[in-house]
Amino acid sequence: MKKLSPSILSADFSRLRDELQAAEEGGADYIHVDVMDGHFVPNITIGPLMVETVRKITALPLDVHLMITDPDRYVTDFIRAGSTLLTVHAEACLHLQRTLCFIREEGAKPGVVLNPATPLSAVEYVLGDADLLLLMTVNPGFGGQQFIPSMLGKIGQARALIDGKKHPVELEVDGGITLDNIEEISRAGADVIVSGSAVFKSADCRKTLRSMKQKLI
Ligand code: DX5
Ligand code: ZN
Repeated sequence: MKKLSPSILSADFSRLRDELQAAEEGGADYIHVDVMDGHFVPNITIGPLMVETVRKITALPLDVHLMITDPDRYVTDFIRAGSTLLTVHAEACLHLQRTLCFIREEGAKPGVVLNPATPLSAVEYVLGDADLLLLMTVNPGFGGQQFIPSMLGKIGQARALIDGKKHPVELEVDGGITLDNIEEISRAGADVIVSGSAVFKSADCRKTLRSMKQKLI
């Protein structure tokens, strides 16, 4: 079964409990939490305290996307705060394989993320240590950007790379995904779809998630 991971970056934080409940009722499988440090990406967002708060509100797995420089310094804090999956950017890790093993030792599922310009070869030899590969389909930093069309081919190539490995790895895609392109992205081979603004800025986020789920093939 393919999964949906709505990103709370575009949610109304003053109504976080309602937003998370709506996401659950709409059929969310994970809750995607975008952590930005104003250094690796040009925006500052959520820290471990907020992850702890989200953890108290929902029982869904927390899919925490670290867009930060030197993630090793904060892995333990984000896992203690309640991350289920913790994803780090290959571009931010000097010793990526060590970081992935560290995340597993600390008690979360490790994931690795690639920016649009980073080739798949950056993760080829470490996929055995990851439970998830996240492909960015926008340059990270902000919600509400346009999906980069050339990423469709990269999703297909990532699918083939994962299918050629023995160890199961989920393929997640993040950035610019809407009701209009979700079917094509799912067809290209994504297992988990992240969507922020298309879900939380829509008139009825339960309905949007349900419609998105129907388009996952
Ligand atoms: C971008 C974040 C995304 C973002 C997705 O840097 O990693 O998760 O919240 O938002 P939309 O779906 O609006 O592109
Ligand atoms: Zn994200």
